Amino acid sequence: MMPKARVGVLISGRGSNMAALLYASRADDCPYEIVLVAANDPQAPGLALAAAEGVPTFARAHQGLKRAEFDAIIDVELRRAGCDFVALAGYMRLLSADFVANWQDRMVNIHPSLLPAHKGLHVHEAVLAAGETVSGCSVHLVTPELDDGPVLGQTRVAVVPGDTPETLAARILIAEHQLYPRVLAGLVSRATAPETLLDRVRQLALALPEAEEKLSHGSPGFFVRGGKFFAYFQRDHHGDGITAVLVKASGVEEQAQLIENDPDLYYRPAYFGPSGWIGIRLDTGETDWQHVDDWLTRSWRASAPKRLAMLPF
Ligand code: GAR
Repeated sequence: MMPKARVGVLISGRGSNMAALLYASRADDCPYEIVLVAANDPQAPGLALAAAEGVPTFARAHQGLKRAEFDAIIDVELRRAGCDFVALAGYMRLLSADFVANWQDRMVNIHPSLLPAHKGLHVHEAVLAAGETVSGCSVHLVTPELDDGPVLGQTRVAVVPGDTPETLAARILIAEHQLYPRVLAGLVSRATAPETLLDRVRQLALALPEAEEKLSHGSPGFFVRGGKFFAYFQRDHHGDGITAVLVKASGVEEQAQLIENDPDLYYRPAYFGPSGWIGIRLDTGETDWQHVDDWLTRSWRASAPKRLAMLPF
């Protein structure tokens, strides 16, 4: 089974959405786990809950630090905890551009309105003042603009006659607790789905000069025009359950060496004979894409006609 995606949750206060994410993660089939809860306020009540539940916590008051400095501290903690994704859960801080860029497509936020309506604060007051009959909540990818970015999921919540901002907020919060774990699970599953991994391999492989793609024995293969195949993408090949990219090592000696050094990452692909092809697993949950790119480039070089292989890049 695929290892669970590691999620860090950032909070500023109560942390009820953090709790919803955490308790959902306790189901065996949940594709993520919460590995860190961090707050910009050491008094945030959610921290005590996380600690009581055995989740590592980090707290640091943001006062007196520049925005980028503070975000860099949080970034270090998220990386130290090995986070793959970040979930903002009532994290009432604007984020610096660098921090947002570091977690692009891997950071989500929940907001108590049907975005793009009612960004920012005092959402429920605004909904009631406008006489709206429906509000709700949204989970979206985080981009540099506040409460902006592609919406991944929403739940509509009725406004009830006589609602106050407090009663409406409480009802929407119930919907938030249902929505957030479901959307986060969907996001992390998509990120590790074979189709997504193939897209990524394809993007790297086809960026190499004169590289093209065609199916080879049912697997997407990448070759240099006028040259040979330099990579294959394999997914559950002959039922082996593995998602991997195959590239060309210098020969069987290097192949054996690689497998011996890192048997969790490398393997000898079946049906290729003693040809030096080496399998690099993409389903370990911690794929180093720079490393994959380096291998693709090297394999491309070994397979390209001379006139191309000399290209300086
Ligand atoms: C939630 O309602 C969340 O949607 C909102 O703060 C509350 C946090 O509650 N977030 C925003 O308004 C973000 N712009 P919680 O700490 O109990 O999860």
